[in-house]
Amino acid sequence: MSEKNTNTTVEDAVPPPRAAASSEPLLEVKGLTKHFPIYGGFPIKRKVGAVQAVDGVTLSVYPGESLGLVGESGCGKSTTGRLLTRLLEPTDGSITYKGQDITHAGRKQLAPIRSEIQMIFQDPYASLNPRQTVGTIISSPMEINGINPPQGREARVRELLEIVGLNPEHYNRFPHEFSGGQRQRIGVARALALEPKLIVADEPVSALDVSIQAQVVNLLQELQRDLGIAFVFIAHDLSIVRHFSERVAVMYLGKVVEVADRDSLYERPRHPYTHALLSAVPEADLDQEKRERIRLAGDVPSPIMPPSGCRFRTRCWKAQEKCATEEPPLIQLSGSREGHLTACHFPEEPTTEARETDVVMDPALVAIEKELSGEE
Ligand SMILES: Nc1ncnc2c1ncn2[C@@H]1O[C@H](COP(=O)(O)OP(=O)(O)O)[C@@H](O)[C@H]1O
Ligand code: SF4
Ligand SMILES: [Mg+2]
Repeated sequence: MSEKNTNTTVEDAVPPPRAAASSEPLLEVKGLTKHFPIYGGFPIKRKVGAVQAVDGVTLSVYPGESLGLVGESGCGKSTTGRLLTRLLEPTDGSITYKGQDITHAGRKQLAPIRSEIQMIFQDPYASLNPRQTVGTIISSPMEINGINPPQGREARVRELLEIVGLNPEHYNRFPHEFSGGQRQRIGVARALALEPKLIVADEPVSALDVSIQAQVVNLLQELQRDLGIAFVFIAHDLSIVRHFSERVAVMYLGKVVEVADRDSLYERPRHPYTHALLSAVPEADLDQEKRERIRLAGDVPSPIMPPSGCRFRTRCWKAQEKCATEEPPLIQLSGSREGHLTACHFPEEPTTEARETDVVMDPALVAIEKELSGEE
């Protein structure tokens, strides 16, 4: 309970990234990789390939901070989330929690850590057992871990219901009696039951009505501030993360292509992919009138056979020969703020003015749009 108030001195906002960066990371992953094998052949099945869902991700999460993890669908965000919480076993790389290597930790070694790292899932319908009461759902982590709060489990569940903005009297109700937003609150209460230090929230609001999304994000933000819980907040676009996360990592096809503190990333993105994602976020772009919008054509390529070199090159309007042969390392580029890392051979200029002239529509998309509009 003693860590509960560590971050409450910051009243108006989440802790500044510099403060976070100066402390020891809570969770650190290096070269984290998950390849799902594909089997084929008859009569003897053997491995014929692999889905390279996550491929060499290096990240740190600091105590009490909120790190956003953003990228299009299929980029490997959920797999990364499941690796961080050790719901999945990594193929390669390392995971360190509070200085302890847990990469291949067994059930016994993981037991105390399991309670400190919790996950909130995207779908509040699928993630709650419809046959259990809210009381049973929220108290089950305590039961599994043999935790008996001084006030008793039931009283603690009622307390948790109140913390997440639900009526404690609803203890005996079933999930179907609640709305989507309320069900996600139940999921949040369950995640809080063991007083976690880190919550990985995998697109926690994308299945909810837009009007409800802000309420749930506000709740999570309050928990982060008041209880000092660190969050990895996974989202498929940059708009929600902007409100929630003081640092943001952008993923593309299994790799982190850019990571920076919020202001640096939103104001001075250096990676073309981040730039494209940002131009799809109207509220992030105050000078919208002046800027041409970048629109990404096509889908993310298959992670079974990702492009050589830079994985973004098949959709990048700045790609050159080098991009096909050399993988760009994730590094601090000159002109970027400290801690702002980018993986690109031909990055965007670090000034807004320069970026405005940089912006080019994806040539493939221009062709498609011309065709659709009947132009020559
Ligand atoms: N258990 C699995 N077996 C095989 N492929 C998987 C599995 N889980 C995820 N994938 C694949 O890994 C890639 C990344 O998936 P995921 O992590 O869910 O991405 P995101 O959450 O960013 O949408 C996708 O191509 C997905 O189909
Ligand atoms: S390395 Fe090349 S292809 Fe990749 S983002 Fe940079 S310019 Fe585009
Ligand atoms: Mg996902």
